[in-house]
Amino acid sequence: MIRILLLSSVFTYVYSANLIMMQAIWRHGDRAPGDLPYPKDRYNETYWPRGWDQLTNKGIWQAVELGIWLRQRYGATVLPVFNKNKVFILSSDSERAIETAQGVSAGLFPPVDDRVWESSYLRYWQPTPIQTAYGTIDALLRPTKVDCPAYDLANEQEESPIAAQINNEYGQMFKWLQNTTGMESIDFWNINDLYDIQRELDHNMPQPSWLNQVFNGTTIMDHIRELKRITRNQEFNSPTKAKFRGGYLVNEFLKNMEDFKANKTEKNAMMYSSVNLFENIRNAKF
Ligand SMILES: *[C@@H]1O[C@H](CO)[C@@H](O)[C@H](O)[C@H]1NC(C)=O
Ligand SMILES: *[C@@H]1O[C@H](CO)[C@@H](O)[C@H](O)[C@H]1NC(C)=O
Ligand SMILES: *[C@@H]1O[C@H](CO)[C@@H](O)[C@H](O)[C@H]1NC(C)=O
Ligand SMILES: *[C@@H]1O[C@H](CO)[C@@H](O)[C@H](O)[C@H]1NC(C)=O
Repeated sequence: MIRILLLSSVFTYVYSANLIMMQAIWRHGDRAPGDLPYPKDRYNETYWPRGWDQLTNKGIWQAVELGIWLRQRYGATVLPVFNKNKVFILSSDSERAIETAQGVSAGLFPPVDDRVWESSYLRYWQPTPIQTAYGTIDALLRPTKVDCPAYDLANEQEESPIAAQINNEYGQMFKWLQNTTGMESIDFWNINDLYDIQRELDHNMPQPSWLNQVFNGTTIMDHIRELKRITRNQEFNSPTKAKFRGGYLVNEFLKNMEDFKANKTEKNAMMYSSVNLFENIRNAKF
């Protein structure tokens, strides 16, 4: 009983609050591998209709669905129709991030009333501006592309022992994988190239049986997933590293709120389409 009362008072509180601003950031939708995952892989670029690294049909749907979700959630408050004075969409300078922003915008801003400009097959689409900073160094939405010696130093000290441990523990499996995949060498630094196999699995592409081979009690594919998790985590798992990778963005979010509160801007729907937010610069495929 007490719980229900507490809940309803929370709801009352929420409903009496007034939503006046939203900020959103997303990564691009599902995409093709960056390259042939390994030399003996049979799924070359022909299997990916838009080419390496580009959004897939599934990725486009994910973007549009996100837009529809944002419209359902914020359409009655801060995102009723597209208003250039209030809405701001910034994309990283990357084809798949720009396309994802276009997809989100398509789901978010179907034209209504006097914005309807076509009555047949483009009835539910209208163009909206997507800002990008073509060719600039994108510390905000693509910090991994920015050379940052201080980050590298902070990372190196923690990374070397982890790399040594992984190379030691998985040495035997890496050797076996080298032969099986045709890769010249495999270690902590490039094992994630094989994670692109996950993208093939996501698209129901039949796989060779060796992926299910068991090494030390676990299948090869599960090891590849686990190694992805380990190598990815260690890129930003300390306050210092998190600050270098995400501090600029957090500051931008705070500044947006302060500017809006101080009436310095009318913009109250800020959206960011990002890429490789946390990818290791050494392995990142731009
Ligand atoms: C991909 O492989 C198929 C044969 O499996 C071949 O016909 C096609 O030309 C190849 N495409 C590329 C881009 O290499
Ligand atoms: C192998 O299995 C043992 C026992 O489960 C575990 O402690 C060890 O971390 C595993 N090594 C690898 C490389 O998976
Ligand atoms: C390398 O792989 C081939 C099959 O692709 C296999 O016949 C051979 O035994 C393997 N060699 C080693 C050393 O594992
Ligand atoms: C911003 O504008 C609103 C509405 O005009 C006003 O109520 C509020 O006091 C202003 N805030 C500041 C910090 O100037």
